[in-house]
Amino acid sequence: MSLHGRDLVSIRDLSRDEVLSVLDSARKMVPLAEGSRSSDALRGRIVAMAFFEPSTRTRLSFESAVQRLGGRCLTIADAGATSMRKGESLYDTIRMLSSYADAIVIRHPNEGAARLAARASERPVINAGDGAGQHPTQTLLDLATIQEAFGTLTGLKIVLLGDLKYGRTVHSLAYALAEFGSEVILTAPPGLRLPEDHREELRRLGARLSEQSDLRKAVREADVLYVTRIQKERFSDEDEYHAVAGSYRVDAALLEDAKPRMIVMHPLPRAGEIAPDVDGTKHAAYFRQSFLAVPVRMALLTAILGAARRGN
Ligand code: NCD
Repeated sequence: MSLHGRDLVSIRDLSRDEVLSVLDSARKMVPLAEGSRSSDALRGRIVAMAFFEPSTRTRLSFESAVQRLGGRCLTIADAGATSMRKGESLYDTIRMLSSYADAIVIRHPNEGAARLAARASERPVINAGDGAGQHPTQTLLDLATIQEAFGTLTGLKIVLLGDLKYGRTVHSLAYALAEFGSEVILTAPPGLRLPEDHREELRRLGARLSEQSDLRKAVREADVLYVTRIQKERFSDEDEYHAVAGSYRVDAALLEDAKPRMIVMHPLPRAGEIAPDVDGTKHAAYFRQSFLAVPVRMALLTAILGAARRGN
C-alpha cells in the first residue's frame, strides 16, 4: 500500500514491506542529504514542525530534509510562544495548523498526543515522539543504520540498554525488530525495565525477547548495542531518578570483548551513558545514525506527500 496521505503515529502503522521501501528510497537519497545532488521533490510544499518538547536532531533533520528537497517549513519550536499559552487546546492548534501546511510533524510530552493530532488534522501527521509512547521515524533511521552496517535486519542480536521504561525510541524499535525477526535482549537497571504490557504484546507478536542484567555478558553477545539515556524529564519522583542515575556506562574498555563488527548506537543526546573514548573505536555508529536521519526523513516525507505539484 502507498504511504501517500497517511499518518505515521506508531511504527506499527507500517508493514514490513512499507518499512523496507522507505529504507530503499532513503539509500538513494543519501547524496541529496549530503548536498552533493539537488532535488525539488517537495517544491511548493510546506511542512509544519509542531514541537512542544525540546529537540535538536529530530526537528533539524526534518527541516534539513524538507529544505534540501525544495520544500519549506513552518516551525513551532517553543510552545510558550504560541496561543497555547492563552489556553488554546492541542486539538485546535493542530486543526488550524493543518490548514497552513501540507503535513505536520509533531513532538509532544504526552503519550497519545500524536494520535489526537492525527484526528484533529486534515493533513498527514507524523509523530516525532509522544511522551514515553512512540518515536517511529527514529526507528526508521535506526533500522537504516543497522541495515547499512549488516546488510540485513534479520537474525541479529540487538541489546537494548538503559531506560526501557520511559524511552520511546526503544518502544518503537523493539516492535520493528520483532517484525523483522531479530532477537531483542533487554538490559535495564531495576526500575527501568520494559513495561509488562510491551513485553506481553511483543511476545504475542512472536518476538524473541530475553533479559540480560549483566552488561558485560550482553556486550559479548550483541551485534548491536543500542544505548539510551535515562529520560530524567519523565520521572514523577526525584528519588526514583537518583536511584538509577549513572547506573550504566559504556566505555572503550567494556567493548574489548565485543564482536569485531558490533555497532554501538544511541538516538542521542547522550548524557554520560557512552564515554567519549568510544567515539574513536570502530564500533561507534551513533553519528552515522544521526546523519541517516536526513535521508530517511526525506524518503518518508516524499512517500507521504508524493511528488511536487507542477506548475504552481
Ligand atoms: C530521543 C527522543 O527524543 O526520544 N532523541 C531523539 O529523538 N534523537 C532520545 C532521548 O531524548 O533520549
